Amino acid sequence: MNKKNQSEIVKHYKEFSRRDFVKYLLAGSALSASTLSKLNASVYQSITSLNQKYIEDESPDGVYWEALGKHFLFQDGLIMMNNGTVGPMPKPVFNTLIRHFKIQVTNPFDVYNFIPRKKEEVRTKLARFVNVSPDEIVITRNTTEGMNFVANGLDLKEGDEVLLSTMEHPGGIHPWKLKEKRYGIKIKEVPIGLPPKNTDEIVSAFQKAITPRTKVISISHTVYISGLIAPLKELSKMAHEKGVLVLADSAHGIGMLNLDMKELGIDFFATSPYKWLGAPTGVGLLYVRKEAQDKLWPTIASGGWDSYENARKYETLGQRADAIIIALGEAVSFQNSIGRERIERRIKTLAGYLKREVKKIPGVKLHTSQDPYLSGGLTAFSIEGVEPKKIVNYVREKYNIVVRTIGNKQAGTYGVRVSTHIYVSLKNIDMFLEGVRHLVRRKS
Ligand SMILES: Cc1ncc(COP(=O)(O)O)c(C=O)c1O
Repeated sequence: MNKKNQSEIVKHYKEFSRRDFVKYLLAGSALSASTLSKLNASVYQSITSLNQKYIEDESPDGVYWEALGKHFLFQDGLIMMNNGTVGPMPKPVFNTLIRHFKIQVTNPFDVYNFIPRKKEEVRTKLARFVNVSPDEIVITRNTTEGMNFVANGLDLKEGDEVLLSTMEHPGGIHPWKLKEKRYGIKIKEVPIGLPPKNTDEIVSAFQKAITPRTKVISISHTVYISGLIAPLKELSKMAHEKGVLVLADSAHGIGMLNLDMKELGIDFFATSPYKWLGAPTGVGLLYVRKEAQDKLWPTIASGGWDSYENARKYETLGQRADAIIIALGEAVSFQNSIGRERIERRIKTLAGYLKREVKKIPGVKLHTSQDPYLSGGLTAFSIEGVEPKKIVNYVREKYNIVVRTIGNKQAGTYGVRVSTHIYVSLKNIDMFLEGVRHLVRRKS
């Protein structure tokens, strides 16, 4: 590709029109590494100028977020409010992904030459992002894998107890079910409210369930059914006083919340960065606290499982799709360029607005806590007499808004779940609410 074409693409990229999405995808794979780097630099330049211009931007909506939204590659008109399932990649992440996949096509030597170094850089970046040492980071494929690594890797005996909440995801339940069947451990489910009243209600429910046989609390940090953010800090403190380990299933946590593992005090933390952090699918993160590493066996083994004296011993998986790991590093850089606190605040501000307004609609039961300490970017609710599926279908047809149904009828958790990431606007939420109100009016 000649220089003129490249600079035209860079210019075009800055003024990216969503209609050109497909053209961009095709062009992307033909771009050189240096053009892809330039494209990324132009995105970061634009974010830096926005940050300088809107230093004190606390307004819940407005130009700052609208401009940031342009660094994503959504199809024309799509309003993506289901990060809880899979989220989008920002442009720099996609560029980095293409760039590193291209290496295998054009120069496979580099796949084993310089890529391993880059992987370590990603580990360090991730460690800083969640305030731990790189020696405590395992790069997995997703949350499910992280949960399985912990359930498999702990030496538990017949009769040992593991406490789960009643709101766990299959990826957090079945690793323990397998262990129950194989080794005779005992799973005990602790009920949590929809929503719980406060932190104390959750912590004391778990405290009461602990017996001398209890070895682990395995709990969703980000409850997929209700949007609850579990108070891990308080739970860990209580559990550690009783000699119980804590494993958090935080599939949605990274990229949604400003995480600090040291502050949370947990032993193990599994997360999926393709939901809220903007990474591609196929790469995840497991934190294993240094002090817990001698209690956890590796599940997979190749060279290194018995010689690494750190969390690298849990990922001797052989050759991997390194491009997606490096793209994960770019997703961290993208969020760092905006600011993690700012991101969490934006997400919670949008969710707060949605909860306040949806609650005013007659018949609505909010399944998510209104306390910002016990909630994040997932909001779930149900409406008496209105089928959740109807809401999901109606807002998709009418406004091209993507939300989903969640939970189940028997448990009383069936409802609609909405994700409010940074690029969602108040206008988008108002459209969604208008759709809900319309269906409620039609019912009566
Ligand atoms: C709370 C929770 N745990 C675990 C998972 C499984 O995640 P993954 O498919 O990335 O392993 C999900 C997926 O949505 C989830 O919501």
